[in-house]
Amino acid sequence: MNESLLPDVSVSTAKPSSVKADVLVLGVRNDDDAGDHASTLALLGFTGEKGQVVTVPAGEAAKVSTVVAVGLSAEPDAEELRRAAASGVRAAARTKATSVALALHPAEGDEVTAVAEGALLGSYRYEAYKTKPTSDDDRVRTLTVLSAFARQSTVVDAVERAAVVARATALARDWVNTPPGDLRPPAFADQIVERAGGTPVKVSVWDEKRLEKEHCGGILGVGAGSDAPPRLVRLSYEPRKPVTHLALVGKGITFDSGGLSIKSGAGMQTMKIDMAGAAAVVAATLAIAELGLPIKVTAFACLAENMPSGSATRPGDVLTMRSGSTVEVHNTDAEGRLVLADGLSLAVEAGADRIIDVATLTGACVVALGERTSGVLGNDDALSESVLDAAKATGESMWPLPIVEEMKSAVTSSKIADIRQHNPKPYGGTLFAAAFLREFVGETPWAHLDIAGPSFNDGAEHGYTPSGGTGVSVRTLVRLASDLVAAGA
Ligand code: BES
Ligand code: ZN
Ligand code: ZN
Repeated sequence: MNESLLPDVSVSTAKPSSVKADVLVLGVRNDDDAGDHASTLALLGFTGEKGQVVTVPAGEAAKVSTVVAVGLSAEPDAEELRRAAASGVRAAARTKATSVALALHPAEGDEVTAVAEGALLGSYRYEAYKTKPTSDDDRVRTLTVLSAFARQSTVVDAVERAAVVARATALARDWVNTPPGDLRPPAFADQIVERAGGTPVKVSVWDEKRLEKEHCGGILGVGAGSDAPPRLVRLSYEPRKPVTHLALVGKGITFDSGGLSIKSGAGMQTMKIDMAGAAAVVAATLAIAELGLPIKVTAFACLAENMPSGSATRPGDVLTMRSGSTVEVHNTDAEGRLVLADGLSLAVEAGADRIIDVATLTGACVVALGERTSGVLGNDDALSESVLDAAKATGESMWPLPIVEEMKSAVTSSKIADIRQHNPKPYGGTLFAAAFLREFVGETPWAHLDIAGPSFNDGAEHGYTPSGGTGVSVRTLVRLASDLVAAGA
């Protein structure tokens, strides 16, 4: 795979006036004096308002050739610093800079990390299919975060950790951005194996024959219409003295046409994104291992292509799942829950203490929460809280939704099978889907992240979010793992 290159990042105690770089990104708080650049900036209408970005030539005295002024509020939080760093670096990239220094005045170590993370995430671009990609001479290759704390080893380490997480996010973005014909289940599985090579993460892949032997009727049922067979990829990271065992399960529909319940042309336009959950759990597992966190992680990427054909599963068919339960299929476009169900059963069998699944599961979640917020549902309030806390700390917008009581009877209302796949009513689609998944986790604490909205940005870039795949949930999952470690789980 054509890996997206992120710049190198380091921290330095250099002064903004003497640092050597092509561009200086200078944070200016509302009432701040922008120093030597104040009059030029004022002429350009720069007021230091939060979010404003203005590019000016640097004066004679400076070592940099260009200054990008970025407006900040009086006391910016980590998320504001991430966004400001990203907009600053992107403005610098437009000047074809190769080295960028950032003077955003982080007030403590965590803020240094936030600046580094935002700058790295904002540098991402996907050019694998451009015949004329940006040359190395025209792209940002080095980032220097200026800070008085730069000599503290904890800060240096934290910046290195931010780089690991940013690279993992970029990997998830790359996979989501890859055209679906080039990332069908067997190819995706191969790429996961390749990525895990040389890391402490062990990988095994179940092909269609093995899936048959293992009774994974959900994954097989969804993949039945495609001539590219489904795969189940299992990743396992087992450090020496793990504090706990976390299982991650990802929806990996490499293309969701809807199957025989086919989507409209417009509806399937962006459905290459339907493997974003699998991409996120794999990338997060690799990052957790690279960070050496003492937590056991078992991840399951449930890969299938949802296509209509003479061999496809039909509405009305009944599937026997890994758990042994039977499911009556009503709408082949509600395929995500079917592949996840088998992954959740395997996570329970693996003996995990907690299970998190990540999925672009329902359009209803986008209707409820908008395009930038993921839904969090589950069977354990403490676990949902931990996920929401981790999300908040990383700046990923997530919000809790309930699995309301009436969904239980709706899920078990099939006349001919144990479980009904599809909501009989057109309301609460996200809640019904979660109630369906809950049938497969037993007593294990479980949280479900519906990332249908935030996994893909079909508009212009904003903050550190590029257009296209966003890599959402990678940062939350890694943070959750490190929070569990810190809490001794
Ligand atoms: N992959 C879609 C959900 C989706 C929609 C993701 C929009 C990202 C953006 C999922 O498989 C699907 O088609 N869900 C149906 C479920 C319905 C048939 C019960 C939906 O949301 O309409
Ligand atoms: Zn679907
Ligand atoms: Zn889908």
